[in-house]
Amino acid sequence: MDQNQLKKAAAEYAVRFVEDGMNLGLGTGSTVTYMVAALAKRAQDENMELTCVTTSSRTKRQAEGLGLRVVELNEVDRLDLTIDGADEIDANYQGIKGGGAAHTMEKIVATASDQVIWIVDESKMVETLGKFPLPVEVFDYGLTQITERLAEQGLNPVLRLDENKEPVRTHFKNLVLDLNVGQIADPHALADQLDHEVGLVEHGLFLDMVNKVIVGTPDGPKLID
Ligand code: 5RP
Repeated sequence: MDQNQLKKAAAEYAVRFVEDGMNLGLGTGSTVTYMVAALAKRAQDENMELTCVTTSSRTKRQAEGLGLRVVELNEVDRLDLTIDGADEIDANYQGIKGGGAAHTMEKIVATASDQVIWIVDESKMVETLGKFPLPVEVFDYGLTQITERLAEQGLNPVLRLDENKEPVRTHFKNLVLDLNVGQIADPHALADQLDHEVGLVEHGLFLDMVNKVIVGTPDGPKLID
């Protein structure tokens, strides 16, 4: 099975945890695209009433296009469940997200959720985080200075560019620096360091945030609860 088939299988498995009447957070990425398709089908087949909050305009377009009800985060008190992808998950179920530059919205939505499920293919499961560059969202204002400060700390920031060599912009029109930090032995210490960095909007370390992980494997989706 190729990576996309594994992503699809994990995504389709996840929608069994959705219940009628839920307020749902929908993540971003290729795995989430499969999940939203399966969710919309289940909602229609079972006549479920769901209220969804999305973490990117891409997910919003897809969800609305498939007939799901999408509202703004500010319109709900809490979310019952958020289902999202991840870029890396370590042996302690800490994660890196932001490969799609959506990690700021994704973290706000995850934090507003009672339950969080990550759906990934098995290649995302690692012993220690850090092979995947750690995304951080930064303002244009002070880019030179923050890049220099992060470089001085040995975090090797690289401005993310798109296929036309233009800077990637987040939903909030900010920039993304990818930090090439190598193995992250202590994710909490690094998160703490980045949390104190002036001008850094949000980083992609998602720590102690997930309740279930569904991993697509050639033997079928594996649930880690
Ligand atoms: C977007 C993310 C995605 O969840 C992450 O990049 C995984 O994407 P995919 O499902 O396409 O592998 O964090 O900001």
